[in-house]
Parts: sequence; structure tokens; C-alpha cells
Amino acid sequence: MPTGGSDPVREAARLLAERRNAVVLTGAGISVESGIPSFRGSQGMWAKYDPMEYATLHAFMQSPRKVWEMLSEMVSVCGGAAPNAAHASLAALEEMGVVRAVITQNVDGLHQAAGSRRVIEYHGSMEELICVHCWKRYLTRERWTPGAVPLCDCDEILKPNVVLFGEPIPWLAQEVAEEEARTCGVLMVIGTSAQVSPACDIPRLAKDAGAAVVEINPEPTSLTASVTDIHLRGSASGVLRLLLKELSLDDETPSSESSGH
Ligand code: APR
Repeated sequence: MPTGGSDPVREAARLLAERRNAVVLTGAGISVESGIPSFRGSQGMWAKYDPMEYATLHAFMQSPRKVWEMLSEMVSVCGGAAPNAAHASLAALEEMGVVRAVITQNVDGLHQAAGSRRVIEYHGSMEELICVHCWKRYLTRERWTPGAVPLCDCDEILKPNVVLFGEPIPWLAQEVAEEEARTCGVLMVIGTSAQVSPACDIPRLAKDAGAAVVEINPEPTSLTASVTDIHLRGSASGVLRLLLKELSLDDETPSSESSGH
């Protein structure tokens, strides 16, 4: 498989147009352009909050009020964000029948807000709160107020229904995501450093099942030299715009059959 060759965008577009059953794995990088910080790197959330102190299930059970200092920031940042051009491009690719599903590690709900219909929330969602004592669920917007720690009717502190470190992936999300990865023709990996498992194992799963792996990221990651076939180096919105343009051109160009030659 050419590793990008002379025009990697055109090569990726050719693969997507030819196979038309792409699945997408997204990470925090796709929402950076919506004003939501990523996790790693100097500007990341984990530069400000030590994840072992603020983002494990153990830490939440030990000191929920402390963990809510970090969670409150995430709830307000996610709550105030709008989808960007990258989210919109993926929804358009789904509409065109090129993309079949999005597996997201993000908990911001922006893929659905942009119009993507088949979204697998691999790490849960910030839009819901759950009581880890009686399992009652609430909508975050109905139960959370800035600066306050939300309580369940049973008086226990509520937790966003997201996967903290040390928590299992929701089994249905994991099952469905792996099935999508095993049966797709192209797996696009967008805006993830691929450092957190089991999400970072999905590209390898797809590759071993015969899919082409197309990575979109301004930086190389742990996947680039080992799993990725085509690395499109750039921002999610910029690269997806080029891909969409190539694919729209492809859709307009009548094939020899249809032009009756
Ligand atoms: N477009 C595309 N990619 C980008 C952009 C952009 N505009 N900006 C940054 N990136 C890339 C970075 O180069 C980096 O590789 O996005 C990646 C973000 O990586 P992380 O911050 O590690 O986020 P992610 O991979 O999603 O983290 C995985 O870790 O902290 C846990 O549960 C959390 O879901 C999260 C998981």
C-alpha cells in the first residue's frame, strides 16, 4: 500500500470512493477547533490536572468533590462548544454513503450535533450523569449548575456517564466498535494520540482484518510508523475539507458506463 505517494489526499479519496464503507475513530484533536482542549501536550487538560488524581474511578470514589473541580471545567467547556467544519465534513461523508459509522473517544456530543447519525460513544457522554450508588441517571443540563456538585435523589454525588481511568468501556460500545472495525474497508483515525487502550487497539484490529488505515493528525503518533497506510498531516478540518472536495469531484465525474461511451 503506498504510504501517501505523490498525492496522499487523492490516494485516500480514491480508497474511500472505491470501498465506500469507511469507519472513523476520533479523538480530542477533532474538537480542538471547537475550543475544547485536548488531553496531552502542553495545552492539554492533563497538563493542568494530574489524571491519576482527577480522572480515575478510584479518585472519584475517594474525593468526588475534588474530581468535580476538573469535571466542572469539562462540563462547561463541552456545554459551550459547537461542532466545527471537521465534524460537519464527517456528517457529509456519511450522507454521501462514504462513511458508515463514527467511533468517538470524545464525550462532547459534537458529532451528533453536526448531524452524524451513527456515532458510537466509546468513552460515554458528558450529557448524562449517573449515580454510582443507585445507578439512577439524569441529564447533565437538568442537574448540574456551575460551581455546585450535583447530587442524586439518594443524596450521593453524581458522576458524568464518562469512562474514567480504571473503568471498563461500556460493553455494547466495545462490541459494536470492534465489529465495525473488523468489517470496514477503510479506517480513518482522526485527532487521537492513540495512547489509551483499548481504543488505540481499534486501528490494528481493522488493519488485521484487511482495512486500509488513513490517519489525519498534524503530528505523527504511535500508529503512524506501524499501522497507518496514509498519514494526512494537517488539521482535521483542513484535511477533511480537501478529502470532501476530492470525493465530491469524484461523485460528479460521470463514469464511462453512465456517459454511454
Ligand atoms: N486536528 C487533528 N488532530 C489534532 C488537532 C487538529 N486540529 N489538534 C491536535 N490534534 C492531535 C494531536 O496531535 C494529538 O495527537 O490530536 C491528538 C490529541 O491527543 P490526546 O490529547 O492524547 O487525546 P486522545 O487521543 O483523544 O485521548 C484519548 O485519553 O485522556 C483520555 O479519555 C481520554 O478520550 C481520551 C483518551
